[in-house]
Amino acid sequence: MKALFFNGGPRKNWTTVKMLDSALKGAAEAGAETELIHLYDYSFKGCVSCLACKLKNSKTNGICAVGDALRPILEKAYEADVIVIGSPVYFSYPTGVVRAFMERLMYPILSYNPKTDADGKMHFALRDKLVPTAMIYTMGCTEQMSADWNYPLIFGENAKFLERLFGYTETLCTYSSYQFSDYSRYDILEGTEEVRARYRGEQLPKDLQAAFELGKRLAEKAKSL
Ligand SMILES: Cc1cc2nc3c(=O)[nH]c(=O)nc-3n(C[C@H](O)[C@H](O)[C@H](O)COP(=O)(O)O)c2cc1C
Repeated sequence: MKALFFNGGPRKNWTTVKMLDSALKGAAEAGAETELIHLYDYSFKGCVSCLACKLKNSKTNGICAVGDALRPILEKAYEADVIVIGSPVYFSYPTGVVRAFMERLMYPILSYNPKTDADGKMHFALRDKLVPTAMIYTMGCTEQMSADWNYPLIFGENAKFLERLFGYTETLCTYSSYQFSDYSRYDILEGTEEVRARYRGEQLPKDLQAAFELGKRLAEKAKSL
């Protein structure tokens, strides 16, 4: 069973990767073969709307036909049994790189002719494989600010499509993340670092544990499918 973890931020040893690393360890404990992929290492764009993935009776049906650096990554993702995407929040949304990745990952398997089963449930995916997925978001703001700024609504939109296309998804957030290693060198509102220091001491260890448990839970779920 293979679990893939995607780092959708440019930094390789800050909060996003720490959270992903914890989730990865949880999945490994549940017996998954794991891999962390840094999306910023690859040069690619979002969906180019060539629509080759929607062409009937074509070998590209259900597959992204764009032959760039993301191609082998997408092939791996379609083979994966667990997918976890970690992203810093940039201007209220996942990073542009994560958006581009998700367009390329999700659009080829989205059916424009969804089937309704006997229970009345609509099936939007072109394939039947059920893959436990999750998004992990890291952000500078507090949990209260995130609620005030409607982030749960934004994150819910991503969750909606992941759930429809992969069958299962979870969302995990960590807040008040450290952005700078030395706050004194930057022009920042007084007290900013104190809030983060408190969070790092009190809450971040719990968030990392929650990430570990998330990874383990998803891998166990994949095993039982
Ligand atoms: C371009 C940019 C935009 C950002 N926009 C937001 C934002 O809208 N809301 C927020 O809470 N934090 C924002 N941040 C802070 C990052 O989300 C936060 O520092 C995140 O934890 C970075 O992840 P990393 O430490 O793994 O790189 C922004 C940071 C950058 C660089």
